[in-house]
Amino acid sequence: MTTYSFVTSADLEQFGETLARALPIGAVLVLIGAMGAGKTTLTKGLARGLDFTGEVTSPTYTYIHQYPTPHGELVHIDAYRLEDARALWRMGLSELIDTARLTVIEWGEALIPDLEAVTVLRFTILENSREISLEPHRTESISGLLRASTLE
Ligand SMILES: Nc1ncnc2c1ncn2[C@@H]1O[C@H](COP(=O)(O)OP(=O)(O)O)[C@@H](O)[C@H]1O
Ligand SMILES: [Mg+2]
Repeated sequence: MTTYSFVTSADLEQFGETLARALPIGAVLVLIGAMGAGKTTLTKGLARGLDFTGEVTSPTYTYIHQYPTPHGELVHIDAYRLEDARALWRMGLSELIDTARLTVIEWGEALIPDLEAVTVLRFTILENSREISLEPHRTESISGLLRASTLE
């Protein structure tokens, strides 16, 4: 696990730009962290990294935004208002992931066990900064982690 620290939202956006370019085609990111932790800010950076120049806004009420970047589609999902994020499967999540350059899911923790390959980013709000821990996961290891945390 690797942890990164950001004092300003510009720093965090810059990290998103670099990360987007480094991620393989079809990557899925699940962003975990409190309201205001910087999940949407990171996504704005991811969009810039994929050379998308338009506005990127939080899909809080519409659940899914799709941005046509020059490198392929960026899918940005916010499951905050869904009672169960797994409802996204019925909303066509598999097809979206299959055709996207990059899929980013805020509040998508419940989807992790069913995602084939996913990178989990945990956001922490500190007094004067934000921290992001990056955990590349395969299905089995994440299920194990979830089981372990349930037992705590
Ligand atoms: N280092 C930082 N990184 C990201 N956002 C920051 C930082 N410091 C302060 N902020 C502020 O915190 C808020 C983060 O909002 P947002 O990215 O929408 O969070 P989330 O999507 O996780 O709810 C913004 O208002 C931003 O200006
Ligand atoms: Mg958000």
